[in-house]
Amino acid sequence: MTLPRARVLVIDFGAQYAQLIARRVRENRVYSEIIPYTTDVEAIRDLQPAAIILTGGPATVFDPGAPQVPPALFELGVPILGICYGFQAMAQALGGQVEPCEPSEFGRTTARVLDQGALLVGLPAEFQVWMSHGVSVAAPPPGFRALATTDGSPVAAMESPARGLYGVQWHPEVLHSQYGRELIAQFLHTIAGLGADWTPAVFIDEAVEAIRAQVGHAQVLCGLSGGVDSAVAAALVQRAVGDQLTCVFVDTGLMRKGEPESVEQDFVEATGARLVVADAVDDFLTKLDGVTEPETKRKIIGAQFIRTFETEARRLAGERGIGFLVQGTVYPDIVESGTGTSATIKSHHNVGGLPDDLSFDLVEPLRTLFKDEVRQVGEALGLPESIVWRHPFPGPGLGIRVVGAITRERLDILREADAIAREELTAAGYDRTIWQFPVVLLADVRSVGVQGDQRTYGYPIVLRPVTSEDAMTADWGRLPYDLLEKISTRITNEVREINRVVLDITSKPPATIEWE
Ligand code: XMP
Repeated sequence: MTLPRARVLVIDFGAQYAQLIARRVRENRVYSEIIPYTTDVEAIRDLQPAAIILTGGPATVFDPGAPQVPPALFELGVPILGICYGFQAMAQALGGQVEPCEPSEFGRTTARVLDQGALLVGLPAEFQVWMSHGVSVAAPPPGFRALATTDGSPVAAMESPARGLYGVQWHPEVLHSQYGRELIAQFLHTIAGLGADWTPAVFIDEAVEAIRAQVGHAQVLCGLSGGVDSAVAAALVQRAVGDQLTCVFVDTGLMRKGEPESVEQDFVEATGARLVVADAVDDFLTKLDGVTEPETKRKIIGAQFIRTFETEARRLAGERGIGFLVQGTVYPDIVESGTGTSATIKSHHNVGGLPDDLSFDLVEPLRTLFKDEVRQVGEALGLPESIVWRHPFPGPGLGIRVVGAITRERLDILREADAIAREELTAAGYDRTIWQFPVVLLADVRSVGVQGDQRTYGYPIVLRPVTSEDAMTADWGRLPYDLLEKISTRITNEVREINRVVLDITSKPPATIEWE
């Protein structure tokens, strides 16, 4: 929604690393956005990119139907950096020679510099890079010079400064590639001449302006979930339109213990925003009765949120209603709900889970930000640590942490276990190390236990501590055994229905953070 001064477009050829490239650009304080390779050149021109990066991708350039770079893209007069597939597609489109490479190069590879050119300026004669390809560029297109080579790639980097075109076979965006950050910085700042001026303060100014332009003098409703995203979105909108904003906290019955109280306390105290609490527990739980399929749960919850907001809007403003709804949608929600090039992983309730007959216009000031950027914006807005550093909590709440049908009893069991786990994590000082700590009830599984000489037949509960930078990828969190033991003992002692605690040690991918 904001239109920053300079933007870099990351054209996605189905890359595993498109988000990572966008993040690396933003780490240089240059705004970037991902668009699918199917976007036509006119639309790209309209977006007025200051530079373009072509990503890698799973296809092979000379296969029939492989995505192509339209030659007109190279005539836009905008500096372009091709990476991996993007590099090969650039070479092929401009008359270079692309061939299967023997052997394929996967993983760590030594790049040898032939000519530093403009792109590799200041880099040593040899360094380690991360490769993942079975096709290489044998000869650069006319007018290009080769800058580097590896055992499998005769041309591993090339450039034509006169045309503003650059490319590397390796992945400078991954940390395993030495000097990757330097290379990207060189492309952005020296070659494309972009300043490092996309800061949280600039983002806030532009977002405030865009929100004012979008909503005018109209009333705005904001659903607060208790998470950092909706809190920062609400604080931004409040900065933009002040009293025109009313925040609604929907008690879905799927909240964690103490959540409604902490939203009221922390958020209202910090921002002075108007907050109403809507009790919609019966509505949500009735609609979810007997539903076990995760996507169906998400869709029901997404739709019910909107229905609750509509009811609140009518209650607050009469039949005139409220036309705008603020949501804390962030970039990974958009990307993971499917952008065209990438697959739909989950319908995040605030994106794919929206009903078709939505009666609100959405205000989503964070839809282009990654989570760590949301936190920076939250800090710049002066929100307290308790909000800015709160662990992410999904909109569908505990509804997607009861694996199986949702009942009040199961939610209560999970709420108690979750409260214990969170309390112990905080007490041990692990809140910042751990990105998120879902606790998941396997409601369709029972196992045998023994307690006080009695046989038990109880539920297992899963602890899912993860570390992450932006929730796009994650690793399982290595919590100390003593802490895990304490949590396990307390849960089995204090929550009668649970007789087994298990630890999820899967990274993302292949698993997602949430179980549903
Ligand atoms: P997954 O489970 O896809 O989650 O690895 C990635 C991050 O997104 C959160 N999440 C959601 N957040 N609405 C949200 O606002 C949703 O529908 C939703 N689903 C997952 C999840 O908790 C994690 O931080």
